[in-house]
Parts: sequence; structure tokens; C-alpha cells
Amino acid sequence: MGDGDVRRLIAGNWKMNGLEDDLAEVTTLAQRLETPRPDNVDVVICPPATLIAPMHALQFDTIGLGAQDCHTEESGAYTGDLSAAMLRDAGACYCIVGHSERRDYHGETDEVVKAKLAAALKADLIPILCVGENLETREAGKAVDTVVAQLKAAFPGAGKGVVVAYEPIWAIGTGKTAGPAEIEEMHAALRQATSPDTRLLYGGSVKPGNAAEILAVSNVNGALVGGASLKADDFEPIVRA
Ligand code: PGA
Repeated sequence: MGDGDVRRLIAGNWKMNGLEDDLAEVTTLAQRLETPRPDNVDVVICPPATLIAPMHALQFDTIGLGAQDCHTEESGAYTGDLSAAMLRDAGACYCIVGHSERRDYHGETDEVVKAKLAAALKADLIPILCVGENLETREAGKAVDTVVAQLKAAFPGAGKGVVVAYEPIWAIGTGKTAGPAEIEEMHAALRQATSPDTRLLYGGSVKPGNAAEILAVSNVNGALVGGASLKADDFEPIVRA
């Protein structure tokens, strides 16, 4: 299978942004994606958990729905947490796991991420596993080894049914992106560590102005987009890139 055969995925991560009124942006995006319908690409929005059920009720057929995190357990005494089954029940089909903000601000280890990934798969959610190095690791020349190790720690099985998002931490929300050569090197390593049909996304300051260049890099099958996914005016051109 060649790289061009893998169906692309453009996923928006709203993070802790968005009230119910902001779903108007998704409605606008859905309408714009009707004509022409982009070929060979899945479009997904991962709103905050409070908006999953309201967005599901809007029944967009051009935009899929994802969650940003799930708990490792199916149910139990975990105040404030949400299980993968609950997110599926609310309408999510995808679930981000191991985002660097979860790893950094909630102390999620590879072990926890592995358990979350398994929980998502068990609940029939497609996990979007995030991996990425910090600037110190990049500058020490250890980025590829570190990221591949992160991937293998969270997901020893070779990629079936899992989406992998490479997000260099130093590029998230900073306006900096990895260069095409850096992305190509990392994605080649991730391809080797997964399977030919695993969708490999790049994330970190993807914008309308750089999306085409990033999406043209070999083994890049889509993007995970934070800030630029909040407005239809920014997200639509990324989908069409
Ligand atoms: P950003 O976020 O596009 O705002 O850099 C990407 C992400 O964290 O998924």
C-alpha cells in the first residue's frame, strides 16, 4: 500500500475552548464542506466533553466527533472523570489519548496512556495517540528515538485501528512548526514502527498558510489542529489543503 492510499484525517482539538453557541462554527464548516465535498479525507472535531452530546445531536454527516481524553477504567469512583464508554454513548467516535498537555499537566505516564488507549479501543473509539518530544530532546538529537519509544510504550501492537499524531511539544501553540525534513524523518520512523495503513498525523501550529506544505510531506496522512480548528474560516482551508 502506498502512502497515497491511506485515507486522510484532519482532526480539530478544541482543548478547553467552546460553549454551546460556538457549535455555530461547526455548522458553518459542515455547510461549507457540502460543496464541493472533499475527497478521501475524514474531518473530525474534538470539542470539550460538554459539547459532545450537543454536537452529536446536530448530526453532521461531513464531520466526525471525537473526545479529548478518557479514563482508563470503564466505571467507578473517579469523581469528575469520563470513561471511554460514556464518551461513545454521548456520540464520540474518536478519542485523543496522551496529548502532551495531559502528560504535562496531569502527570500522565506512558503506562497511563497505554491503559487509556486500550480503554478507548475497548469502547469502540478510534484512539488518536499523541507523541512528541520537547525542545531539549530535539536539540540533543534524540527526538526520533524518544518519540518511537513513546509510541511503542503506549502501543506495542503495530498500529491497527489507531491514529498516531506526532506533535513536537515545542511547536504546540507557539507558531513554530517542525521543518519538512524533520517531519519527514520522524514520520518515516513512525511508519516503520506501525503499519502501512496507520494514519500518521502531524500537529503543532498547523495553520491555513502552512498546511499544504506539511500535508505534502511523505507519510503525513493528516493533521491534528488546535487553535486553527476553532473557526470555520481557518479550519476549512486546512481541510481543503
Ligand atoms: P496548535 O495545537 O495547533 O494550537 O498548536 C495542536 C495540538 O495541541 O493538538
